[in-house]
Amino acid sequence: MGFIHNFLDSNERNTMTLLLLHGTGGTEDDLIQLGREISRSAAILSPRGKVLENGAPRFFRRLAEGVFDVEDLKFRTDELADFVEKASKLYSFDLRNVVAIGYSNGANIAASILLLRPEVLSAAILFRPMVPLIPDTIPDLSKKSIFVSGGSRDPIVPKGETERLADLFKESSAKVFVYWEDSGHELGMREITEARKWLSYISK
Ligand code: MLT
Repeated sequence: MGFIHNFLDSNERNTMTLLLLHGTGGTEDDLIQLGREISRSAAILSPRGKVLENGAPRFFRRLAEGVFDVEDLKFRTDELADFVEKASKLYSFDLRNVVAIGYSNGANIAASILLLRPEVLSAAILFRPMVPLIPDTIPDLSKKSIFVSGGSRDPIVPKGETERLADLFKESSAKVFVYWEDSGHELGMREITEARKWLSYISK
């Protein structure tokens, strides 16, 4: 399949699949508990990023903190979107109901998938994202719902970056909900609860 990954099937029919995308230095195991807190019944697909930075797995190369290798990012975005398509055939989940949950570097590649390969996601929850790239053409995201969660004291992701990304999604006609957690780069409890409530609301 090309990616080391976890797949946890759901006992329920016609349910959603969560695509879990970890941060720098994470693995396919890191976000399982977070995914379960956000949806108990969804199937879970959780790959490990293939790019190593001093041994730390990531989903694409960067030149420095917050400075991305855009060519590599485009290649890795396609590779990951292709993986989701292949996984949906192998594990028989519905490609029309895949919700990405990404943290930090994982949120950035999820944002890139939304901008370049939106057909593989129906919604996304992005914790601490930045603008990964500016696409050549603005995609039509009018059928996508996106929850963006920033840390108001995050030293890695400036507030304006998160706002710029939310604006880019709005310009693409997505339904965007922005939440601010009173925290740094680390995840807080309230934003997880808010993400769960948001997902159950948009899934009705
Ligand atoms: C990134 O490289 O994607 C961002 O700087 C977030 C991070 O991984 O620290």
